[in-house]
Amino acid sequence: MKEFVKISLKDDPKKVCVLPRKYVDQDLERIKNMEIFPDDVWVVTYPKCGTTWTQEMVWMIGHNLDYETALKIPQDDRFPFLELSSIATNFPKDTFEECKNQARPRFIKSHLPIFLLPDQLWTVKPKIVYTARNPKDTAISWFHHHANLHGYQGTKADFIEAFGKDLVPYSPMNDHVIDFWNIRFQPNILFLFFEDMKRNLKQEVTKVMKFMEKDFSQGEIDKLCVHLSFDSVKNNKMINKEDIIKQVMEMTGREYNPEKFTFIRKGKVGGYKQELTREQNEMLDEYIKKAEFEIEYQF
Ligand code: A3P
Repeated sequence: MKEFVKISLKDDPKKVCVLPRKYVDQDLERIKNMEIFPDDVWVVTYPKCGTTWTQEMVWMIGHNLDYETALKIPQDDRFPFLELSSIATNFPKDTFEECKNQARPRFIKSHLPIFLLPDQLWTVKPKIVYTARNPKDTAISWFHHHANLHGYQGTKADFIEAFGKDLVPYSPMNDHVIDFWNIRFQPNILFLFFEDMKRNLKQEVTKVMKFMEKDFSQGEIDKLCVHLSFDSVKNNKMINKEDIIKQVMEMTGREYNPEKFTFIRKGKVGGYKQELTREQNEMLDEYIKKAEFEIEYQF
């Protein structure tokens, strides 16, 4: 991951984030200075915490359960990823412009930590949904993402070690989550956990519905939970990123094999138990303990 650098800003040098150099040149300033509207809706996460799943829930609720559009237009077009064009190699679109120029209300995804998000987010205060996930499942999911999509050449052990040292893209995860955890009671922030969505999706859908100031019947909520179920998301071409993955594979001369990897991969809580060694587990326990505030993760 040679092209990645640790970014910090002059006004708070303690805050850092691992991102590509290209992000600094292309996106840092224009994102910090981006104009924000009060009716924007943002989904922000550390990668692999259930972003895509949360986006679909938020978009559906924000659009009064418009299945017709959701089943016709890919999620990446309905809910673009702010900094994607500067973090991906040879991405064919300018995703900042795409986000900026969306018809209002705009729906925007970002993985940036608080200190790199637009300054106006904190004064204009649009709705922001933040989803966190336990760092062990997150690290494993991030590893599979890198190994299968970005041609990461290291081993799983290398990646997990780098995650624990805050050296993988968007690290440090601890700070990313804690900075949002600290502001979770602000009225424009909704802080969710992947594990709660797994345990009781209906309850989390209801939370988002209230946060978005909508009111749906129990039948409508049940139908939405089916749309958001793992199998449905995995098989839904408008959400599962199959086309983008095929494109990335083609561009990098690799073969697309859904038997080996799909973006909507396992979707489990505690999958790390089959994947981490005892030492890696302990190292990540220590990593989590290092965080400045305790977060009630579920494993
Ligand atoms: P795994 O790799 O552990 O399977 P993101 O969208 O932030 O990249 O997160 C991707 C992770 O969310 C993947 O985790 C994926 O399987 C999981 N996911 C996506 N949709 C899901 C759903 N409907 N139910 C459960 N997990 C889901």
